[in-house]
Amino acid sequence: MKVPSLGTLAFAGVGLFAVILIAIGAPHDRPPPVATATSSPSPSSVTARGFTLTSTSVDLPIDEQQYPDGPHADVINANCTSCHSPSMAMTQPKLTADQWMATVTKMRDVYHAPVAAKDVDAIVEYLLAMPTQKADGAGQPAPGSKSPPKSSAASDASG
Ligand code: HEC
Repeated sequence: MKVPSLGTLAFAGVGLFAVILIAIGAPHDRPPPVATATSSPSPSSVTARGFTLTSTSVDLPIDEQQYPDGPHADVINANCTSCHSPSMAMTQPKLTADQWMATVTKMRDVYHAPVAAKDVDAIVEYLLAMPTQKADGAGQPAPGSKSPPKSSAASDASG
């Protein structure tokens, strides 16, 4: 059998490509997408062929990517947002300065968070003053977590 020459193969390739392009067609050959009505509010349910689709709304949990504004917010945002969202800290029960210090220390020592020693005080200050710690009862304790111990064993902030 004769091996086809490079020219023959190239010619066949170009032909095949042309056939594919024709099959796809020019963009304007396709029917325009159905215009979605933007003015009227979308119906809360749609029924067709025995199926009913109903719209519903859900409240997602807090999952902000940045800590809310406040003194040293820039420091905590620079150090504490790479591994988990702020909600991890913002859903903690009201903690003392020592407990926050223990948490930040754990982030650095156990999880190897790259936090400069000079930034630790500013971070703890922010955590103590952040809105969910200030407002009484606003810091929703995680389900099952106990309120922070008042006196003994306060150094264990292992969550
Ligand atoms: C290197 C990754 C990393 C960085 C950076 C980091 N964390 Fe964490 N953090 C973790 C991990 C891992 C957990 C544990 C998650 C779990 O238990 O599911 C955690 C958990 C927490 C918790 C939950 C309570 C606890 O003690 O487990 C808090 C609060 C927290 N981090 C605050 C911070 C703060 C504040 C910073 C900035 C100083 C920070 N994290 C930076 C990895 C990190």
